[in-house]
Amino acid sequence: MKAALISLGSESSKWIAKAMKKYFEDVDEINLKNIEIDLSHKELEILYKGDPLGEYDCVYERGSFKYEPVLKSIAVALSETTYIPIQPAAFYLGHDKLLTQLELQKHNIPMPKTYLTPTLGSTKAILEKINYPIIMKFPAGTGGKGVMYAESLPAASSILDALTALKQPFIIQEYIETEGVDTRAIVAGDTVVAAMKRKAVKGEKRSNIHAGGVGEACVLDRYTKKIAIETAKIIGAEICAVDILEGAKGPMVIEINLSPGLQGITKATKIDVADKMAKYLYKRTKEITEKGKKKVASEILEDLDILKPGKLKEIITTLDFRGNRILLPELVTNVSKFDEKKEVIINIDKGNLSVRESEIGREKEKKK
Ligand SMILES: Nc1ncnc2c1ncn2[C@@H]1O[C@H](COP(=O)(O)OP(=O)(O)O)[C@@H](O)[C@H]1O
Ligand SMILES: [Mg+2]
Repeated sequence: MKAALISLGSESSKWIAKAMKKYFEDVDEINLKNIEIDLSHKELEILYKGDPLGEYDCVYERGSFKYEPVLKSIAVALSETTYIPIQPAAFYLGHDKLLTQLELQKHNIPMPKTYLTPTLGSTKAILEKINYPIIMKFPAGTGGKGVMYAESLPAASSILDALTALKQPFIIQEYIETEGVDTRAIVAGDTVVAAMKRKAVKGEKRSNIHAGGVGEACVLDRYTKKIAIETAKIIGAEICAVDILEGAKGPMVIEINLSPGLQGITKATKIDVADKMAKYLYKRTKEITEKGKKKVASEILEDLDILKPGKLKEIITTLDFRGNRILLPELVTNVSKFDEKKEVIINIDKGNLSVRESEIGREKEKKK
């Protein structure tokens, strides 16, 4: 299988390309700056160094918000024929913090209260009624550079004057007290492959590594993990970083990063994050290219009657462990139809384990 990594050639992108080469037969490293989108003919054409871009099974695009129109156009052009982990819409949703929030809010992902105002007058009105401290930030900043902290109305007013003079659009956000700590989760599909807490340097509110923040490996609780994975899914970015603040009201997403830097998190967690991403890309590409050729496993199982209810199914297998916990095969979830909300009774003895739905749980469900 053939893959391409389109990027600005950062160190992190080089790591990912190198890791991809372990899995894919062919990996082309393409510099985004040498790409041209040609719309002069009937169909959109992507040119690389003046020639049409080759054909790939997988194209992973990285690059900053400045390149959003090109990144998005490439994704649109390829989406029908090629596996792309970042959907076209993700490029405009993910590169704008306000649009990210609008989209996530529709799906009840917790986020800090945020305001956007069209005029100076309405901004002043918000600043007068809001609780302090607050954060004012550019919708498309990165590395903490567009984030300003105001602890009072006078501080906010002088920031407002400067932003107005510079004609810079910005958003106003409730400040979440976390003592300068934020959480970064790297998501690949349905898993968080690495997570770290970043602590801002003394006197600094922004915990970005670029702003001097120090990273430390951490294990996310199930709820926070779920929020990170759902955020990635909603935005349409199978591979991304999700930034979360864990304040008094629980975890809140502040942004999604479509091309996260890997140095900080690799050093902090000692996890080969580039390899995790590459492995994921390979697995998905394989799944998608093979889907065209033969039925996916679940369809085959359906044909074999194995998913039909009523009959007790027996699987002979070894058990998969995560530390001391037992991880059951996905088929168990599919056949049992258990989900997180169902109350169950677990019977355990040496060499024997069974899980059944509790009658009370079932009654509760019926009543609904
Ligand atoms: N609403 C907020 N409350 C508290 N701290 C915040 C808030 N928004 C941002 N920060 C701090 O600033 C950092 C950078 O903010 P973020 O929105 O992720 O922008 P960037 O794209 O520049 O990383 C965060 O990691 C966090 O430490
Ligand atoms: Mg951030």
